[in-house]
Amino acid sequence: MVSPRILSGVQPTGNLHLGNYLGAIRNWVEGQSQYENFFCVVDLHAITVPHKPETLAADTYTIAALYLACGIDLRYSNIFVQSHVSAHSELTWLLNCITPLNWLEDMIQFKEKAVKQGENVNVGLLDYPVLMAADILLYRADKVPVGEDQKQHLELTRDIAARFNYQFCREKPVLKLPEPLIRAEGARVMSLTDGTRKMSKSDPSDFSRINLLDTPETIQQKIKRCKTDSIRGMTFDDPERPECNNLLTLYMLLSGKSKQEVAIECQDMGWGQFKSLLTETTIAALKPIQEKYQAIMNDQGYLESVLRDGRQQAEAIANDTLSQVKAAMGYSVPL
Ligand code: AMP
Ligand code: TRP
Repeated sequence: MVSPRILSGVQPTGNLHLGNYLGAIRNWVEGQSQYENFFCVVDLHAITVPHKPETLAADTYTIAALYLACGIDLRYSNIFVQSHVSAHSELTWLLNCITPLNWLEDMIQFKEKAVKQGENVNVGLLDYPVLMAADILLYRADKVPVGEDQKQHLELTRDIAARFNYQFCREKPVLKLPEPLIRAEGARVMSLTDGTRKMSKSDPSDFSRINLLDTPETIQQKIKRCKTDSIRGMTFDDPERPECNNLLTLYMLLSGKSKQEVAIECQDMGWGQFKSLLTETTIAALKPIQEKYQAIMNDQGYLESVLRDGRQQAEAIANDTLSQVKAAMGYSVPL
């Protein structure tokens, strides 16, 4: 029996934080044995905002090492770097030419990021979702596990695939329409400094997020300083208490306890007591990931061999899809 195929990715911009882990990577790890998985470090996406050439390669390795440290298992999964497989760029161009401009102008993430960039908006930022569609469609992925913020990009991917199939291959569709895989819990981890905004790599304040590689001291300081309210007793789902809901959810996910257990355990706690509990739990949950990360980073040869193997597996599938796409569009085959 052939397993359904998964594809997902994270950008090598800055450190991974708890939102990336709980919203995306943890779900990849938990589901991986049921699927054939491709996990990509999307370094071509990373240059859609100003980037530092001096650190791009090192940041890319860091993310790949963190995938392994978080529990990605090479028996089920391939890890590779997007820019190592040139089919991603090539399919993006082909898809660009069938994607209506206004579909891209309507993307929420584009509008938000464009505002931040002021007058310096580059074409890459607008085209970002087409590159993401190419990432997914090249592997004929059945499911794409992501956080809530990527849902619109997945809908766009399906629209692009359907439009391509309709225009060029009505009898035998070449592109497969992927399904999003979004978990209810952890799909939207919020900022520590504002419970109504999502935790994000691009927030200028590092106090807004907990990074997977933060030291115990840093974690303690961040939780100590995070936003609270003046009510005693911790409660889930109170719209007036977004910070409380966010931190309780973090505690639930990091401790592995059920929502009901956590609700009962914390219902009479004051903020001070709850914050110590959350601090301890976060430090304990991240410790094994950090230790494994260090061991992997001390063996650069191993990481390189993982990425080389991943690239080979990825390339075989990606190049096959790309050839089919080009044939459907009427391209000649080079002699
Ligand atoms: P990015 O940091 O934009 O490269 O996102 C990588 C993955 O993490 C994507 O699947 C996102 O949906 C997910 N993600 C990013 N931020 C959050 C967040 N605050 N809560 C939940 N998931 C997130
Ligand atoms: N756009 C995604 C994000 O910021 C990252 C990404 C790029 C991705 N290509 C992908 C996610 C393909 C899933 C599948 O989170």
